[in-house]
Amino acid sequence: MPEVILEAVDLKYSYPDGTNALRKVCLQVEKGERLAILGSNGAGKSTLFMQFNGIYRPNSGCIKYQGRDITYSNKALIELRKKVGIVFQDPDSQLFSASVYQDISFGPLNLGLSEEIVAARVKQALIDTETTDLVDKPTHLLSYGQKKRVSIAGVLAMEPEVIIFDEPTAGLDPRHALEFMQLLKKLRDSGKTIIISTHDVDLAYSFSDRIAIMCSGEIIGHGEPSELFLQSDLIQRADLALPWLIEMHSELVKKGWLPPSTPLPKTKEDLLRNIPPKSDQQSA
Ligand SMILES: Nc1ncnc2c1ncn2[C@@H]1O[C@H](COP(=O)(O)OP(=O)(O)O)[C@@H](O)[C@H]1O
Ligand SMILES: [Mg+2]
Repeated sequence: MPEVILEAVDLKYSYPDGTNALRKVCLQVEKGERLAILGSNGAGKSTLFMQFNGIYRPNSGCIKYQGRDITYSNKALIELRKKVGIVFQDPDSQLFSASVYQDISFGPLNLGLSEEIVAARVKQALIDTETTDLVDKPTHLLSYGQKKRVSIAGVLAMEPEVIIFDEPTAGLDPRHALEFMQLLKKLRDSGKTIIISTHDVDLAYSFSDRIAIMCSGEIIGHGEPSELFLQSDLIQRADLALPWLIEMHSELVKKGWLPPSTPLPKTKEDLLRNIPPKSDQQSA
């Protein structure tokens, strides 16, 4: 049985103005998995994330970390946030120090680590996010994408077990979005549990081991990407499109270019590999 590292149990949460943001959310996150939470704007993704590291407290239900209910004393929250790190969607809500170095080192210094260990962690985080050349820059002079990468570096330097990225590629240019995806793969290979929220179905499909679909404060589907995307009623209900790889696959099957038994491609290379050479098609 895979170990459940983080869990939402019957979670309900309303904002002070009465908005029911989470209606009854149950979700298990397995250790070491890559989970994507898909859902349109306002589905409740960010609210759920803020429950995961105790920024908001549920009205009812609970969050469990490694099987134990989280508690909300300052001490318990500091411990939880060492284990569960969040990269917020808006980097301006994450960066507050004068320089990039100060910002990335702030968290690890607060953990009471030595200057040398902090320096080594910051150096690695700068390399991983390609921000080494920005190290002495004031954070307020950075571009949006640079701020985003520095805010990711700040969370990496904390070396949490679970890293949550809220809409991580929004606002990144294509090259940095691709590099970010490679970083996610590296983090996963190193055993970290990764949760991302997105409404980018292509990203969710190629990135994740499992997907949870959120709609109006509820999880309406949870499972392997290729199973979920074949449930068209679910996809429509959550206002999502199909990943281009799945659309292309089904068009090719419809046109007779691919036998219906061809497995769904996970990458562009899989899709191209499945298409028979031209000579086979003519003789077919
Ligand atoms: N601070 C807030 N006060 C009141 N309502 C909020 C607040 N933040 C978010 N909401 C509402 O809660 C719901 C869920 O929002 P959110 O979690 O941000 O969704 P998502 O991240 O999926 O776009 C939405 O209806 C949103 O308008
Ligand atoms: Mg959000």
